[in-house]
Amino acid sequence: MEKVKVAVAGVGNSIAYLLKTLSLKEEPKGIWHQKVGGMEVKDIEIVAAFDIDERKIGKPLNEAALTEPNVVNLNDIIVGKDVMVQRGILLDEISYFARDKLRVTKKETPKNISKVLEDSGAEVLLLTISSGLQKTSEAYAEQALNAGVSLINATPSTIASNLAIVKKFEEAKLIVVGDDLMSQFGGTALHRGILNFMKLRGISAVKSYQVDVGGGLESLNTMDEGLKELKKNIKTRAIVSEVGDSYEVVTGTTDYVEFMKNRRVSHFWFEAEGLLGKKYTIDLLLTTEDAPNATNILLDVIRAVKHSMKKGEYGAVDEICNFGFKKTLNQESIELAVKEFEKKYCF
Ligand SMILES: NC(=O)c1ccc[n+]([C@@H]2O[C@H](COP(=O)([O-])OP(=O)(O)OC[C@H]3O[C@@H](n4cnc5c(N)ncnc54)[C@H](O)[C@@H]3O)[C@@H](O)[C@H]2O)c1
Repeated sequence: MEKVKVAVAGVGNSIAYLLKTLSLKEEPKGIWHQKVGGMEVKDIEIVAAFDIDERKIGKPLNEAALTEPNVVNLNDIIVGKDVMVQRGILLDEISYFARDKLRVTKKETPKNISKVLEDSGAEVLLLTISSGLQKTSEAYAEQALNAGVSLINATPSTIASNLAIVKKFEEAKLIVVGDDLMSQFGGTALHRGILNFMKLRGISAVKSYQVDVGGGLESLNTMDEGLKELKKNIKTRAIVSEVGDSYEVVTGTTDYVEFMKNRRVSHFWFEAEGLLGKKYTIDLLLTTEDAPNATNILLDVIRAVKHSMKKGEYGAVDEICNFGFKKTLNQESIELAVKEFEKKYCF
């Protein structure tokens, strides 16, 4: 049976949940797509891992995934016990807000990253490092290129939507997909879904907003004004792609609430117009957990990348980018994105 070998950079909450899912002996409940590119979930193998937190470096991956500052409440992770977490790349400043939560000693590019990738046999590098690390993300992309490994960028750094970087992957006949993972049933997906449904039922969306509060390192990171703005722009662009450029929307994370841990609460408000300008409004509250909301997308995207590699595809594959990510080069509606992904990969 075909396998896909994956290296991860950033052993945070979303990776902990991914490892937990891969560790289950029985068929995991709630898997979105049983088979992608002919592969099952158990065909995903994690072969290497990088982090920059001193508490995680040198630990087996399954233990590192349950180490602070991770907040997911999990146990019995078996997958990753034979993979030691290695020191990763850091070229940017850690956000002022996250500094106290991370134990980082130095900014550097360890010399052996592409060698570790090569020696591990990794076919894909999954980038799940903290957001706001653009130079670092680019350096990981360079190392993936050097090692002949494809790249999945779950972070909001501009990688798979950067034409110059995409060109390098095309020249190396490798795949690069991203940017900024779109959670399976998170704020952006639901926001887009409701706008899509209004269109389907023939009423016109006029304006909406979505404000989130959450816990965990990633929400804390987002308290940085620059990063907040970057994430807000990505979400806005993804939402507007459902209804048109003139659509009025405000969206983004508004606060960090430590005790919420991995939970996120999103408050939405929508206004739409029907016959003779009749107004419709929706008030909605969505409570989710970030890490499990990422897992199905990661499982699907990893297997899809492998299938596309086998078919000889390279560059930023639209069907994968639009299905799994918020910021893509050729954005399309959420409904079409799922249909096209399933048509190409779900068999
Ligand atoms: N639902 C989701 O979880 C979701 C949705 C959209 C986007 N994302 C993105 O995925 C990424 C991971 O999310 P998360 O919730 O798992 O994050 P997290 O904060 O739980 O974990 C991030 C991990 O990356 C490590 N790290 C930071 N800089 C690093 C570096 N330079 N090299 C190696 N490791 C580094 C940290 O030590 C930590 O272990 C973030 O960029 C986030 O924006 C996640």
